[in-house]
Amino acid sequence: MIRSVLTGTGSALPRQVFTNADLAERIDTSDEWIVERTGIRQRHLAEEDETTSSLATEAARRALDAAGVEASEIGLIVLATATPDHTFPATATQVQHALGCNSGVAFDVQAVCSGFLYALATADSLLRTGMAKKALVIGAETFSRILDWEDRTTCVLFGDGAGAVVLEAREVAEDGPGIIASKLHADGAHKELLYVDGGPSTTGTVGKLRMRGREVFRHAVVNLAEVLRETIEEAGIAVDQIDWVVPHQANARILDATARKLGLPAERVVVTVDRHANTSAASVPLALDVAVRDGRVKEGDLVLFEAMGGGFTWGAALARM
Ligand code: UT7
Repeated sequence: MIRSVLTGTGSALPRQVFTNADLAERIDTSDEWIVERTGIRQRHLAEEDETTSSLATEAARRALDAAGVEASEIGLIVLATATPDHTFPATATQVQHALGCNSGVAFDVQAVCSGFLYALATADSLLRTGMAKKALVIGAETFSRILDWEDRTTCVLFGDGAGAVVLEAREVAEDGPGIIASKLHADGAHKELLYVDGGPSTTGTVGKLRMRGREVFRHAVVNLAEVLRETIEEAGIAVDQIDWVVPHQANARILDATARKLGLPAERVVVTVDRHANTSAASVPLALDVAVRDGRVKEGDLVLFEAMGGGFTWGAALARM
């Protein structure tokens, strides 16, 4: 059978690191509150010369190197972001140009924090139709640009960064590597709980992120547990066969609650929220790259990805590395 195999990962973070103590000097918050409620200790924030496309390009180059693939071999780039460089053209086309692979297909998908899961499922489907042989799937964000730095309930939660994977269509055996199952969902009824209060066709401005965190938290735990169960069921595997869960990194308490609901031991969950905070669409591929490079996620491992974000959108995917 033809499967999309993850052959390389890469990531990139802005130079500047802001600790919780740094934020407490600017706004009415504390390291204690942020750590206790979220697990976040620091985040990377982009300077003026660091953009979504520059971070995405760096992450993509590292993923290509890891896969041993030349940029010229890439026929498809799917980039997930809610903070594009420009309203148009798609940030994916800027990454394509920076990589010097100006043929093939490049476009953005927008599903906020679930963006990487949406991009992965899209690229996987296109690879399996034969439309391209090798793809880059990227999650990249500069959420610091859309934060209201006066709103302590949101600005302490997010960071900037990018993560990328190379996907290659390969003929594999049933128990071989590649994406085994993926499930996506959306429900537009809850826009008011998590949105940006601007946009080209409404206010004509970029706008700022608004979130009712407690309500989002409740939906996240329920939706994630459901979609994880669905994905595991579709793949026909038992929970104890999963080697690693690489979740969207919004809040350490959401990660704990979701793992508990599924009966997954906490040691098998990759956690980077303490170092990166919530980097929206970048968080899953960033966490995956960290765990691949530090030797935790290895060839042959069964890895479960999950995310939930604005829309609401949510999804999960299961892959053998
Ligand atoms: O990635 C997309 C999906 N997003 C998420 O998954 C986020 C989900 N939500 C969350 O992670 C949590 O709800 C938060 C971390 C956002 C908030 O935690 P919480 O335990 O739900 O706190 P809360 O919003 O109920 O606020 C509790 C208290 C409030 O004070 P009062 O009203 O109890 O006196 C807030 O004003 O904490 C106060 N507070 C803060 N205090 C210090 C809110 N933000 C801060 C802050 N520093 N930064």
